[in-house]
Amino acid sequence: KNTMSQESFQPFYFKGVKFDGNHSPVAMEMVESFEVRDDDVFISAYLKSGTTWTQQIVSLICADGDLSEVCKVPIQQRTPWLETLDRVKGTGEPTPKVLKDAPSPRLMKTHLPYHMLPQQAKDGRGKIVYCARNVKDVAVSWHNMRRMVNNIPCGSWEENFQEFMTPEEAYNGFWWDVIPEYWRHKDDGNMLFIKFEDMKQDLRGHVVKIATFLGRTLSDQRIDEVVANCTFSAMKENPATNFSRIPALQKAFFSKAEGSGLEFIRKGEVGDWKNWFSQEENQILETIHEEKMAGLDLTFRFE
Ligand code: A3P
Repeated sequence: KNTMSQESFQPFYFKGVKFDGNHSPVAMEMVESFEVRDDDVFISAYLKSGTTWTQQIVSLICADGDLSEVCKVPIQQRTPWLETLDRVKGTGEPTPKVLKDAPSPRLMKTHLPYHMLPQQAKDGRGKIVYCARNVKDVAVSWHNMRRMVNNIPCGSWEENFQEFMTPEEAYNGFWWDVIPEYWRHKDDGNMLFIKFEDMKQDLRGHVVKIATFLGRTLSDQRIDEVVANCTFSAMKENPATNFSRIPALQKAFFSKAEGSGLEFIRKGEVGDWKNWFSQEENQILETIHEEKMAGLDLTFRFE
């Protein structure tokens, strides 16, 4: 059944938060009561904050056998996206339903705000790896993503920036609501909170940290192998992670980007925002950032 053509992909609001049409309200309704297993892992991140990177790291840490084989399996298959309709198996069923019968350990991706996670995960069952990224690079990465994805509306940089800065208009919630909410749970027993910029600085250290959190013991050689497959260049060259290179997906989701040179795994840098922000935009953002992050003990590297 070709579910892609049956979906409207219109943006929608769920419990007051705006989502793009790749998410599914039907699936999201099922998330709260989703039955969590002790060995479940949720890979959670705000849009464009290192989700795929963390998915790759977690899935390779948890993989048995030959990593070069595992790396060929599309990342959506290894770590299904919880709040969507299943396009991996092509059933069109809500992913939470499909996952009911999936073998353990289940590794799942989510972009939901903390309060929309499965209740049992919030109560401490399973594990949550949360990756956050500095908000300026998130805004830029999101703009570039929208330039290439067919089913997400895209304005100019100025328009998208404006939208990003407006609480009711920002996709997946206002960054300054979502990240502080997760941060308040950083010391929960089943939560690991990591930052994109720290991973850039010390990838190996983070692979070890995540493995330890997940209760996995890997040999030094195995860790090296995981790291080698999680570098920016490895993930850019790999169509299973840089999935705009998969011809069928390119055609279905990214044809808007044809000829533009844009790819899903794009630059992966800290500080690309400097190529996009005007002085005025920077000022607007910094004012909000200072106000919203006051007293939060959460800082980000912007360059
Ligand atoms: P840029 O658009 O700044 O390049 P997400 O997976 O949450 O959508 O995040 C995508 C962003 O993470 C993109 O940022 C992408 O290039 C970056 N990224 C993915 N894998 C990476 C890696 N191994 N190292 C550094 N950045 C990576």
